[in-house]
Amino acid sequence: MSETGGLFSYTVGTIDAGDPIPLHLLPQGCGVGSDGALWLRGQKVSDLAREFGSPLFIYDEEQIRARARELKEHFGGDVAYASKAFLCKAMAKLVADEGLHIDVASGGELSVALSAGFPADRIVMHGNNKSLAELKLAILAGVGRIVIDSFDEIDRLEELVSEKRPVKVWIRVTPGVEAHTHMFVMTGQHDSKFGFGLMSGDAEIALDRLTKSKKLELVGLHAHIGSQIFSLESFVKEVEVLAPFFTSSGLEELNFGGGLGIPYISGEPAVDFKDWAHSLKESARASGIPDTARIMVEPGRSLVGPAAITVYEVGTVKEIEGIRTYVSVDGGMSDNPRPVLYDSGYEVFKVDDVLARRDRRVTIVGKHCESGDILVKDGQLPVSTKVGDYVATPVTGAYGYSMASNYNKVGRPAVLFVNNNGYRLVLRRETVSDMLALDVD
Ligand SMILES: Cc1ncc(COP(=O)(O)O)c(C=O)c1O
Repeated sequence: MSETGGLFSYTVGTIDAGDPIPLHLLPQGCGVGSDGALWLRGQKVSDLAREFGSPLFIYDEEQIRARARELKEHFGGDVAYASKAFLCKAMAKLVADEGLHIDVASGGELSVALSAGFPADRIVMHGNNKSLAELKLAILAGVGRIVIDSFDEIDRLEELVSEKRPVKVWIRVTPGVEAHTHMFVMTGQHDSKFGFGLMSGDAEIALDRLTKSKKLELVGLHAHIGSQIFSLESFVKEVEVLAPFFTSSGLEELNFGGGLGIPYISGEPAVDFKDWAHSLKESARASGIPDTARIMVEPGRSLVGPAAITVYEVGTVKEIEGIRTYVSVDGGMSDNPRPVLYDSGYEVFKVDDVLARRDRRVTIVGKHCESGDILVKDGQLPVSTKVGDYVATPVTGAYGYSMASNYNKVGRPAVLFVNNNGYRLVLRRETVSDMLALDVD
């Protein structure tokens, strides 16, 4: 086996719990060396962890680029990356390079995109409670679209914008579609803090107000039904519900949001961008949306999620006879709050022994002062796993770092981008000095 090639593979659905980590859950550029260790595009992963410390987020930059190109292939240029999934200047530059638009949901995200030199006219500004300062920044920067979420926001914008320089806006519509996903990431149902309800008639009232505005140039509609959705039927339903309102509005742009699901654990399905694009476009056509309409999407998770792993060092292995084995690592809910928030499942594997059978049932926990600080509730690791080993959780590229905290004053991890030419640090580790810098003596 070559050091970066010779990957093992399994057919999804046929593996048993003790089998090695399945290939399809690892970043595309991963391989197993002759020593059994994990390599990513010519870099031995445990060497990277030794050099930069752990926990460490490691992204396969080539994979993010490949996925961005795939999205462009199927949706044309009409894709906005939802930066809430993962954002730093390097990520914003990558998205700009690949010719996508970017969705920002706060003044902070907008500022990161602008400081990375992201072209303002390709920025979509979101938020259900944008402050005056955030709206001013967006207008001053000249963002491409502001997505209006409430009547209060219409009032605020009417005050801020001059008739001489109207801004282009979309209405965020709540279509009343309940996506098959976790309740906390469902956003398109009628009872939602986001957008204007279609069923309540608020969307119609907003449309009427904005059509008459001289300062706000209404060019389209936006909806987003939720996140981690595997069922294409939910998206089809979204299209069907929005179509009559959109066609009667006479508008030209329609953004269906993000939300496409990705597999995190063995046995979960993967939905192709191609199938997603096909079902959105076909159902749009079938629902009478004219071919001239500009159909857009706004994926976050599905672009970056599969491209990263998080590497941790094992600090303690505690076996409670007849109950469970706790393996404590040097991160936890502060670098990945998803298991705590959504009960999300992850796999875990030993970075320097990728092909080993994972015969020991373990619970991977973090170092925080919470019993609920669990990263992997029902994980499997090789029996040989011991203190000092590096273990990793795959598919941590989305909503991990971006939702990270420094709870217990545990600094946020460093983030690396690895590509075919080497690797680079894109976010350094948060230090105690960074945290102390906020204290006012
Ligand atoms: C308005 C909007 N667009 C896009 C997204 C991205 O969703 P996902 O990362 O599931 O693709 C979100 C996520 O919550 C969102 O709220």
